[in-house]
Amino acid sequence: MSRRFENKVAIVTGAAAGIGRACMIRLASEGATVIGTDINRDKLDAAVAAAGPGAHGLICDSADPSAIEAMVAEVIARFGAIHVLINNAGIGPRQRLRLHEQPPEDWDRVMGVNVRGVYLMQRAIIPHMLAQGSGSIVNMASTGSFRATAMSSPYITSKGAVLMMTRAAAAEYARDNIRINAVCPGTTNTDILANSSAEMIEMLVARSPQGRLGQPEEVAALVAFLASDEAPHIHGGAYIIDGGRSAI
Ligand SMILES: NC(=O)c1ccc[n+]([C@@H]2O[C@H](COP(=O)([O-])OP(=O)(O)OC[C@H]3O[C@@H](n4cnc5c(N)ncnc54)[C@H](O)[C@@H]3O)[C@@H](O)[C@H]2O)c1
Repeated sequence: MSRRFENKVAIVTGAAAGIGRACMIRLASEGATVIGTDINRDKLDAAVAAAGPGAHGLICDSADPSAIEAMVAEVIARFGAIHVLINNAGIGPRQRLRLHEQPPEDWDRVMGVNVRGVYLMQRAIIPHMLAQGSGSIVNMASTGSFRATAMSSPYITSKGAVLMMTRAAAAEYARDNIRINAVCPGTTNTDILANSSAEMIEMLVARSPQGRLGQPEEVAALVAFLASDEAPHIHGGAYIIDGGRSAI
């Protein structure tokens, strides 16, 4: 394993499970000091333990601006800088419903984490990147940023917004040596699929050219490349990782 993140401090949101957990483990294995944030204390502790001595866990709700401010202040006080932000925390709606049936409170809950949370995290961290003259941000979008599926309109809407937020921010910070990209996974084998029926998963696998779901570690490998100094000219992009599903 290369050591692309030696002497770098990275924050990964939603690091207790799934893709975020895999990102924390990957960055730590490449030498980063990684601060994983989440709202699930038990799972976060287990993920930090799996990532090894370079990893630290902080409870932080991505939808809560004051929690984010406090978390960022603590990271700066303890580690001195933030070089990398992986804006990964994301949720789906509680129920699969058509648009007019979606309860407004569930709409707001999904937007609060998936869109406002991604904005709030950048709002708190970009000033530190501007002051140090560099930074790299990866926002977790989805193939749903490009292509709708039925019965999940808050999620699909939120991931379209993450893609355009990434592009807007990329236009604003390019001259400040802050790179911002989006990663767009297809269906990946994590707890986010807990509400999906076995038939639904079977159908997703059948539609995949590779005949399987993605693995969180495969997404983490792409995230690590984009966040690293190996990708200095990659900025404002949206990188699909879906085993060929979008190609057909
Ligand atoms: N798994 C997929 O098929 C898939 C596909 C495309 C995009 N994504 C995106 O990847 C990201 C990670 O998804 P995953 O599949 O690993 O999900 P997951 O449910 O396995 O893990 C998400 C983590 O985020 C945490 N979290 C939830 N709300 C939070 C909040 N308010 N503040 C902080 N942490 C919070 C959860 O506790 C959990 O640990 C999400 O943005 C998701 O939309 C996933």
